[in-house]
Amino acid sequence: MCTTINIVLFGIGNVGSTLIKQLLEAENQIFIKQNIRIKIPVITNSQIAFFQHQGMTPTWKADLEQFSVPYRMEDIIEYVQEKKLSHLIAVDATASEALVKNYIPLIQSGFHIVSANKVANTLDSQFYEKLRSELDKYQRKFLYETNVGAGLPVIDTIRKLHQAGERILQIRGVFSGSLSYVFNNYSESGIPFSKVLRQASELGLTEPDARDDLSGKDVARKLLILARELDLKKELNQVYIQSLVPKNLNGKTTLSQFKQRLKELDPRFEQLKIQLQPGQVLRYIGQLCTQTETLEVKLVAEDKTSPIGQLQGADSVFEIYTESYGDLPLVIRGAGAGKEVTARGVLGDILRVASSIQPQVLVN
Ligand SMILES: NC(=O)c1ccc[n+]([C@@H]2O[C@H](COP(=O)([O-])OP(=O)(O)OC[C@H]3O[C@@H](n4cnc5c(N)ncnc54)[C@H](OP(=O)(O)O)[C@@H]3O)[C@@H](O)[C@H]2O)c1
Repeated sequence: MCTTINIVLFGIGNVGSTLIKQLLEAENQIFIKQNIRIKIPVITNSQIAFFQHQGMTPTWKADLEQFSVPYRMEDIIEYVQEKKLSHLIAVDATASEALVKNYIPLIQSGFHIVSANKVANTLDSQFYEKLRSELDKYQRKFLYETNVGAGLPVIDTIRKLHQAGERILQIRGVFSGSLSYVFNNYSESGIPFSKVLRQASELGLTEPDARDDLSGKDVARKLLILARELDLKKELNQVYIQSLVPKNLNGKTTLSQFKQRLKELDPRFEQLKIQLQPGQVLRYIGQLCTQTETLEVKLVAEDKTSPIGQLQGADSVFEIYTESYGDLPLVIRGAGAGKEVTARGVLGDILRVASSIQPQVLVN
């Protein structure tokens, strides 16, 4: 018997709109191979929603412009109830904290949650645990593989190892695509740091204000998410962060002043480069040690031949050290950002939820 999944998609920016495209392209294949129909009867941005209970079609952008309406969360819940839509998944492709605050009402209304948004997993532990207890109570799923490493199977791998009783000793890696690009290109070239940073920005790899990347906060959030997967009771403010933004370029300095004064970053990084030993490169890493329960985001001198040292382009890498793997870590490496890989990861999570709610055929 075919299972129809109904998605309410919050966020139609880079990831959300790519997800719609990928779903429309893959819907027949998913139906033929997995007997699952995936419909998106509701899409929203921060202001407006478009309701179409038959599901989106390739003309969704034009339809949205013409037929969308301002909405409140209650309108969406009432709509799915009125249309008797079942097997509901709320997909969060936003970076919104306001939406996360609605996860619990959504779960209580029967929704599973799939999220690319890191906020729910990086708020305080009280919310983190409350969310999980509501998921248990209402028997709903919450998947968020793309929170760390975008489409790379990082969270799933760590969770499976941990659940199987494997002792994870340490996780180290380059978790930020933009800072991967910056240090991979800066370390072994003669190009000034400010110029490499500008290139990264022109390629669309950094946030509009590169200080958001250089502050290390995004890496810290990812590290916290991994730590919590390993049952470490940590808060964001317990992550040590070595920010790469000097104090005099933070705070009251506007974005345009920061851009004009970018060259002021150069002497410090030049000095760090001079101090490197032969065969070493600079890398900005996240590091979590389970024995000492320390979470650190920092700039390190790394051996060029290590998985972190060998990194290229804007790739991410995760070295997972466990008892059974010994001194040689399990390594996951590849594109750790980008709308295509992230949307594909979200789609993977949707299919995982769909499979778990598909009726099981009993064979005699
Ligand atoms: N892009 C990547 O490579 C990547 C990789 C991994 C994870 N992620 C995560 O994926 C999420 C989405 O990223 P993105 O690049 O697609 O962002 P984006 O292009 O800025 O799009 C964000 C979308 O969310 C909508 N939105 C904001 N607040 C909302 C709310 N309260 N309710 C409903 N919609 C709301 C925005 O609507 P408005 O236009 O009305 O503001 C916009 O449509 C983020 O959490 C990001 O960290 C992205």
